[in-house]
Amino acid sequence: MTAREVVKDIYWVGAIDWDRRLFDELIPLPDGTSYNSYLVKHQDEALLVDTVDPAKKEEFFQNIKETKSKNIKYIIAHHAEQDHAGCIKDVLQNFPGCQVITNNKCKNLLIDELHLEEKNFFEIQDGEIFQFGNRKYQFIFAPWVHWPETFLTYLPEEQMLFTCDFFGSHLATSTLWAPDDAFFLRATKRYYAEIMMPFRQNIQNHLKKLKDISIKIIAPSHGPIYQDPETILRAYHEWVSDEVKNEVIIPYISMHGSTQKMVSYLVEQLMKRNIKVTPYHLINTDIGELAMALVDAATVILASPTVLTGPHPQMVYAAYLCNVLKPKVKYAGIIGSFGWGSMMEEGLLKILTNLKVELLPTVMIKSYPREEDFIKLDQLAEQILINHQKIK
Ligand code: FEO
Repeated sequence: MTAREVVKDIYWVGAIDWDRRLFDELIPLPDGTSYNSYLVKHQDEALLVDTVDPAKKEEFFQNIKETKSKNIKYIIAHHAEQDHAGCIKDVLQNFPGCQVITNNKCKNLLIDELHLEEKNFFEIQDGEIFQFGNRKYQFIFAPWVHWPETFLTYLPEEQMLFTCDFFGSHLATSTLWAPDDAFFLRATKRYYAEIMMPFRQNIQNHLKKLKDISIKIIAPSHGPIYQDPETILRAYHEWVSDEVKNEVIIPYISMHGSTQKMVSYLVEQLMKRNIKVTPYHLINTDIGELAMALVDAATVILASPTVLTGPHPQMVYAAYLCNVLKPKVKYAGIIGSFGWGSMMEEGLLKILTNLKVELLPTVMIKSYPREEDFIKLDQLAEQILINHQKIK
């Protein structure tokens, strides 16, 4: 690994985690990730912006060494999660007198997580400007991206914004600067969907705040740095907006083919009505793909067989994710099958309490679908068409 200069006297000293495939023991990382830490040099002293995951401590300290900084005076800690804050204690031990610049909420979290002391901190307020060397650092509080303590730091001279998780992407790449391509945009969308989507309304407010400052560089703490942030800002505006697309997603599972038959039929009917539709077989679906699909879709249909009178456990998991991710879907429906009795609809509705949706008529069928069941699915497709015509 090697430290890299981002702009004059500001170095990337983070770590690339090429092999990591799971985050928080939950989120798939098909393309690995990175933990970006930045070091701002002033003569032979320096200020760090976040640290890295403790698993990458060695590389991190090697990178700091390469910048030939003799003393780290400060660490700005934007966020207390360990992939960024996990090496703070090591920095304090290696550079006695170093202080952690952060807000009150983050300070308290770090005291609990890392067993630090009050004297280790320099507490800042929203809007405060801090001077280190010849640079000013302006702090912009941006809570809930994605924890309550999160904030951003703006360097007016460079028009550079450090955003920690905000605008990040889980992408291990040797490229320092974000490419303007579809693959990268998809990585940022996946990251938004998995981490930021539940806080869509907070982000709407943060984006409004950012309109007041001129930004040339966005330096997040995961993935490449944005030299021209217009594309990512435009994408975020679209994702967090209240606008939905003419899209239906159908997370589904089927044990003996009955629910599968219903899903296939509904997919055909929606396609005939020129509605974009994607079924997601839950056994084969990466939850990041499902989360991404929820960013834009107007309608979600959950399709499950009945297991022990309730929804299939895979569907319970998918419904729980849909609920906690709080997507902006406008319409939701349940379809499925049962052998002798079912409380599946009630079970799923109890899970979906966060969704502010108009419910579509449930289609539950006994055993294998008959002609009258397909008619109900036709009616469901027609209702979805009518709804989507309202949102176009
Ligand atoms: Fe990348 Fe919330 O930590």
